[in-house]
Amino acid sequence: MDNIIDGKKIAKDLRGKIAEEVKTLDRPPGLAVILVGEDPASRVYVRNKELACIEAGFYSDKIKKSENITEEELLLEVDRLNDNPNIDGILVQLPLPKHIDSNKVLERISPLKDVDGFCSENIGKLMQNKPYLRPCTPQGVMTMLASAGVDVMGKNCVVIGASNIVGRPMAMELLNARGTVTICNSKTQDVAGKVRQADIVVAGVGIPKFVKGDWVKDGAIVIDVGINRLDDGTLCGDVDFDAIKGKAAGITPVPGGVGPMTIATLLENTLVAYKAKL
Ligand code: GUN
Repeated sequence: MDNIIDGKKIAKDLRGKIAEEVKTLDRPPGLAVILVGEDPASRVYVRNKELACIEAGFYSDKIKKSENITEEELLLEVDRLNDNPNIDGILVQLPLPKHIDSNKVLERISPLKDVDGFCSENIGKLMQNKPYLRPCTPQGVMTMLASAGVDVMGKNCVVIGASNIVGRPMAMELLNARGTVTICNSKTQDVAGKVRQADIVVAGVGIPKFVKGDWVKDGAIVIDVGINRLDDGTLCGDVDFDAIKGKAAGITPVPGGVGPMTIATLLENTLVAYKAKL
């Protein structure tokens, strides 16, 4: 159906464009990914990031650390990568073990190498509409919207979820594109009523099929950031795809929607950080 926004294809095209540009560079852009512990989902994400790097001609440094690493040791690892001239981007895969202060580790990454866009300097710049390195998932959503020909200006946008990784930066991206933005959190009253007003809905709550078919108005654009594993092992998003796909003007599938865009955007950001050094 032509209302499916095919993130897999948009991401592949973006990765292809990046790979072409990398061929013209004197040295490959370098991305370091730090993985702490054995979280199975994190291992899969990090492996996918590594494969995408290699395919695009990047230098990829995957650094695996034991669950028992101390905060100080991890901070020293970040310092080492901050000082390494062959590394343009640094990503610390979240979540970190409970004994480590994630915020302290993220803040230690040089803002010039913070390809996740999570440190306060980069978030502050996004907030002021003077963005530099931007969080990958929301930036990837903006790329998808542009690719699908969706103009955000003047639209009613409802973001469901207020996390630092997705909801908050997503709301800023939509505001910077001059949308009118409502952010829903777990205490929001009448989320359904808010979604019914929306021209663009972005869901990132981590609850399978949270957004119901009768919440979405005809012709809306629905972006599903959720990746939930059901008891039968299948993946499903935060929106009820089957109930919504017949009425939305555009909808992203799970898998094959936002997920591939996050990784392609990580490469895009690493290239931005590389070029800033030239
Ligand atoms: N864990 C889940 N999503 C992300 C992400 O976008 N970046 C990092 N570093 N960790 C994550």
